[in-house]
Amino acid sequence: MMSHEPPYRPQGVRFFDQLSLAAVRSAVSASRHFLRLTLSTWQAPLIEDDALLIASELVTNAVAATGILADRPTWSELAELSLVAVRLVGLRDSVVIEVWDASGESPVLRHADDDAENGRGLFLVQQLAQRWGSYRIAGGKVVWAELAVSPPAPMPLPQRQKSARSAGTSAARPDAGLLRLLLAGLEAL
Ligand SMILES: Nc1ncnc2c1ncn2[C@@H]1O[C@H](COP(=O)(O)OP(=O)(O)OP(=O)(O)O)[C@@H](O)[C@H]1O
Ligand SMILES: [Mg+2]
Repeated sequence: MMSHEPPYRPQGVRFFDQLSLAAVRSAVSASRHFLRLTLSTWQAPLIEDDALLIASELVTNAVAATGILADRPTWSELAELSLVAVRLVGLRDSVVIEVWDASGESPVLRHADDDAENGRGLFLVQQLAQRWGSYRIAGGKVVWAELAVSPPAPMPLPQRQKSARSAGTSAARPDAGLLRLLLAGLEAL
């Protein structure tokens, strides 16, 4: 699902962290490290794999749109470099990955053919995320994707041990041997 609104209101934000990076290829791996660290601090490691994939695609797109993806940029290219920012926003039941860049162009989901080499990034984001979208802000735009975080599984209630229960039952049941002894004792009186 694609939306042009921010996916949260400020008062719904529980956790927040962000990292600004130069718009070069290494921003992708730096974002992945940032996400892994932040998600483990927030104790949301279950969404780590999907979050890292999404961040890689969104940051690669942001760098492609506004920076330099070449492995060896020249000094003059670097002098003009824009920034990108990756933000992680923790909500009650989800985590939003936001990537800001300085381009006003909106992302366009392509319907890639099976053998197409490009146009897979956002398709993947759409597959993995519960929702995704983009919105403009001063100086650029944000592309975001939301991943649901399931609440921690409740601790299983302690199961009554079968053996304990049967032990309880047998303790409550009259013991035939004991009764026989009692009877013999009474008859002997
Ligand atoms: N941050 C962005 N700023 C501007 N345009 C974008 C941005 N992200 C995506 N787009 C546009 O959306 C298109 C689709 O993006 P998508 O990631 O699906 O494919 P791709 O980047 O072209 O190829 P691939 O991700 O498969 O290498 C891009 O080609 C680009 O035109
Ligand atoms: Mg892409």
